[in-house]
Parts: sequence; structure tokens; C-alpha cells
Amino acid sequence: MSTEFANKVALVTGGASGIGEAVVRELAAGGAKVVIADFNLEAAEALAKEVGSASAFKVDVADAAQVEAMVAFAVDTYGALHLAVNNAGIGGPNLPTADYPLDQWKRVVDVDMNSVLYSMKYEIPAMLAAGGGSIVNMASILGTHGWAGSSAYVSSKHAVVGMTKTAAIEYAPRGVRINAVGPGFIETPLIHSEMTDEARAGLIGLHPAGRLGRPEEVSALTCFLLSDRASFITGSYHLVDGGFSA
Ligand code: NAI
Repeated sequence: MSTEFANKVALVTGGASGIGEAVVRELAAGGAKVVIADFNLEAAEALAKEVGSASAFKVDVADAAQVEAMVAFAVDTYGALHLAVNNAGIGGPNLPTADYPLDQWKRVVDVDMNSVLYSMKYEIPAMLAAGGGSIVNMASILGTHGWAGSSAYVSSKHAVVGMTKTAAIEYAPRGVRINAVGPGFIETPLIHSEMTDEARAGLIGLHPAGRLGRPEEVSALTCFLLSDRASFITGSYHLVDGGFSA
């Protein structure tokens, strides 16, 4: 068994499903204590029980007060915070820009963009108190590319890349590394619930690898960036996209 993350405390938002779940499993297998923070408490609790050395916390990451409580829970439960993956996200409706309902625009931006600021706002001080840390913000291939019908999501993911770079510059001198990961389309409930079979087949054609990605493939990159092996990597946006953007 790997001990790469022994003595580390990690927090994963949206950790109960898909990419977040894969990250939780890899961190726990590496010896980390993990807080699985998710809107879906039941799924988070079931996963925590399964992997061991993990706790579930119910959070809506769009609410700054709940995010503050989430970070406090990690520190209170395990004594510190060293690693965080700000991963919770939603797709939103598929509508052209001029037709995009403003209330739904606001919700997508709150969940996909503002949540990352709220998370870093409370995670960074906790990591400074622990002597350093590493954060991965889950962006998307749509953090640098446009996508018809998804203006709120695309705008939010572009912003995640920008705030990652800015915070990384600010905190690099004090030992907190901050990177963004940009997955191509990955086989998760997010894809299955929001795409028709035909649309999904079309997506596969956009990936030269000839398939969609697997959550474990995003987790592998994410956990590398979290680890001490990535000690000189900060402020970058790293793709895991089967050649989508090549
Ligand atoms: P998923 O739908 O499988 O899992 C998302 C998790 O986040 C769920 O457990 C859900 O309960 C939780 N969640 C949603 N809204 C929340 C909120 N307001 N507060 C707390 N938890 C909340 O999704 P998936 O595919 O694993 O996506 C994870 C991240 O990866 C998202 O940020 C997504 O934008 C990003 N991503 C996903 C891609 C894909 O193709 N699946 C591609 C590129 C990026």
C-alpha cells in the first residue's frame, strides 16, 4: 500500500461522485485522512465508510458560510489541512447566450466559479497555519475553449483558471501550491445525466484517443499535483483530455 499521503489531511468538494470520488479513493489509498464534502450527504457518508480514514460533510459550495464551516470541520476533525481539491461543479442548461436565464446563470457561476474563491479563501489560511499545502482547482477543457450553449459554465471555468494563476503567484513564497486541472469529457454521472446517447457519441469523436476519459485518469494527474513530487509546479493549468485540444 502506498504511503504517499500519510500524515496528510485532504478535503475534496464534490467528493461523493465521479472525478471527486476517484480522487477521494486515491488519496485514501495513499494514507491521507479525507473530508468528503458534498451536497449529497448520503453518498458522501457511504463512500467515507467504504474507504475508511474519511469523514463526510454536507455542504453547498455556493454558500461562503457553509464553505467556511467545511474547512473548520476538516481542521477540527483531523487537526490541520494540507491538501484540497475544489471539484464540485454543475453543467447548467444548454442554451445560447441571449436565451440564458439569468437566475440559472447566477446559480452556475455560484457553484462553478464563486465556490472556488470561497474554498481558497478558507483553505489557504488553514494551509499556511499547517506550514504549507497544495490545492487543485477542477477547471475543464472549457477553461480555455468555448462551447455553444454553455456560456455560464465556460465563463466560470475560464475564471477558475485565472484565479488559480493569481492565487498561485500570491502564495508560492509561503509554501502553498495552487494548480488547475482541465479534463476533457470524462465518463461520469454529469455526462450521463445531461447528454443524449447521440451527443455523447459526437463527443467521443472530438477526442483523438477515441473515447471519453475515466475519472481515475483525472485523479492520477490531480493526486500527482497534490503530492510532494510536484513541488516545483504551481500556477499552471494541466490538461487531461485525450488530445482534444492538440
Ligand atoms: P459529478 O456530477 O459526477 O459529481 C459532482 C459532485 O459534486 C456530485 O457528488 C454532486 O453532489 C456535487 N455537487 C454538485 N453541486 C454541489 C454543490 N453546490 N455543493 C456541493 N457539492 C455539489 O461530476 P463530475 O463529472 O465528477 O465533475 C466534477 C468536476 O469536474 C466539475 O467541476 C466538472 O465541471 C469538472 N469536469 C467534468 C468533466 C466531465 O466530462 N465529467 C469535464 C471537465 C470538467
